[in-house]
Amino acid sequence: MSNDTASVYSGKEKLVLGLDILFTYILMIFGNVVTTTGSGMACPDWPLCYGTVNPPKAISVWIEWGHRMIGGITGFLILAAAFLVWKKAGPAIRFFLKIAVATIVAAILLGGGIIIIDAPLLDSFMRIAVVSSHIVSSTIIFVTMIIAYHSVSSRAGEAADRFSVFLFVLVYAQIVIGIVVRYAHASMGCGPDWPLCQGSILPPDYSFEVLLHYIHRLIAYVIFGLTLWKLATLLKAGSPARQAGITFGLVLLQAAIGIGIVQTVMFLPLLVAHGAAGFALLGWTAWLGAPGMIGARAAED
Ligand code: HEM
Repeated sequence: MSNDTASVYSGKEKLVLGLDILFTYILMIFGNVVTTTGSGMACPDWPLCYGTVNPPKAISVWIEWGHRMIGGITGFLILAAAFLVWKKAGPAIRFFLKIAVATIVAAILLGGGIIIIDAPLLDSFMRIAVVSSHIVSSTIIFVTMIIAYHSVSSRAGEAADRFSVFLFVLVYAQIVIGIVVRYAHASMGCGPDWPLCQGSILPPDYSFEVLLHYIHRLIAYVIFGLTLWKLATLLKAGSPARQAGITFGLVLLQAAIGIGIVQTVMFLPLLVAHGAAGFALLGWTAWLGAPGMIGARAAED
């Protein structure tokens, strides 16, 4: 019988979904390291690397090849999880599993396509769209797996909370804009200035790079304000504030690293840390928003 209650699932399904989430997260950080170290084109062909599974021993080649290996394991785990959970799942969980499987197929094809069509040579907007959508696809898989995990865990059935769903959507929009900032080379769009932008409060010009970077900062301030407000409200009312405290802590960390990137003119470890902390914040807000998203999906069926 298929339903969406946690009691029908065994430890096996939880384990595979948990591994999916872990591997997808590692894959996203690895993807950041690939581009931060400029290793994206180190393997000129796909799916093999220099026509072999044992490519030349150069660091950039092994970073890119390692990224593909982890991608392969992650793809396999996602298909295994979908297969295991599918039979017992109700329509709401099946909806999220379908999205994850369709996205992994698209991500693999797109990843290979980036190499085969030699994306860096595409004209700029097309290149930004193709490369960004590859990373965005991993965030979709990450989020859908977290929602599926929530549904099979003992936390399933928690009350839906509109604020958490709204915050998740806002953070997701910020993550997608951050990814575009990175691949549009808009990281220094405001120069090394913070809180000003090239010495001015408003954008100094309306070029794509400046506006994109400026919007990324503005949304960060909104997220910062909202999460601080939520924490303060709960503390004032004497209500449990642990989750709100973690959320605000992650936002604070993420914003501090972002400011650090700008002020150090893109110190490489900070670029990796901003990706890692940003994706962790995305995962956390997806977890908190999961009951609301599953509830909304179930109500539509
Ligand atoms: C809630 C706050 C924030 C979130 C969730 C966030 C998230 C992200 C994400 C996910 C990326 C793409 C990382 C990747 O592809 O690996 C990014 C890029 C970037 N963000 Fe943020 N960000 C936030 C705040 C800020 C702030 C306050 C600043 C600066 C004042 C900033 C500056 C940047 C820069 C410069 C990049 C491009 C980095 C690169 O070239 O790799 N971010 N952001």
